[in-house]
Amino acid sequence: MNTKNTDLAEYGDFEQREQEVTAHIGKIEIKGLTEPILLSQDLSSGCGGKIWECTQIILEYLVWKREQSQHTLFKDQTIVEIGAGTGLVGLAVAKLCPDIKQMVITDQINMMSLMQENIKLNLLDALVKAKVLNWGEKIEQPELLNADVILASDCIYHEEAFPILVDTFLSLTTNEKTVIYLAYRKRRNADKRFFQLAKKKFEFVEVMEDPKREEYTRQGMRLFIVKKKAMK
Ligand SMILES: C[S@@+](CC[C@H](N)C(=O)[O-])C[C@H]1O[C@@H](n2cnc3c(N)ncnc32)[C@H](O)[C@@H]1O
Repeated sequence: MNTKNTDLAEYGDFEQREQEVTAHIGKIEIKGLTEPILLSQDLSSGCGGKIWECTQIILEYLVWKREQSQHTLFKDQTIVEIGAGTGLVGLAVAKLCPDIKQMVITDQINMMSLMQENIKLNLLDALVKAKVLNWGEKIEQPELLNADVILASDCIYHEEAFPILVDTFLSLTTNEKTVIYLAYRKRRNADKRFFQLAKKKFEFVEVMEDPKREEYTRQGMRLFIVKKKAMK
């Protein structure tokens, strides 16, 4: 994945990166997509106003997986992205898989205008919606419930939010077939508390088939497919 104004490989901790970012619109080239994603980034909206490293690994994997699936990946499926930030992952997946039923990119209220701008920049208004989804809050919007797929890129970074993040995964997986694609970058030892908590309710399967896996695990990133444990 190439970004015109940024170099993903150079990203350090969020605190460092926050100072690096100036608001701009750039072109994000993703191998496997016929056209770049136009992306407005602006950290004045919040920490998600910048693309984070895990976007690269989840997108490259999904491009590869779609090829493996003879281009049937996510066909007719409803997808919700949580903590979407700029919305890059959801937007790129909607471009990659135009035969999905619906994509809803979600985040807190402060990210809405950036996500809406990015939907418009990519002419994806018909397929992609932006909605507020605050982790830990009761989810009532019907378009967020019973999704086939949940996408979560770089959402494990704030220890205080681990319990509400797990609650949100639980609320979004009322449908037992829902699959969560979770891209994670290790930052702190405390991250293990998220996994301890989440593993009480969910099965985590690390994606081993990804041709890029070796490369990104060296940088502390991992990709999981997560499903709710069956009720006993
Ligand atoms: C590290 S950023 C990742 C953004 C994007 N997924 C990416 O990979 O570039 C984490 C995102 O989670 C969102 N977030 C943090 N706490 C949240 C909460 N309590 N409810 C909803 N979203 C939250 C932030 O606004 C931010 O957009």
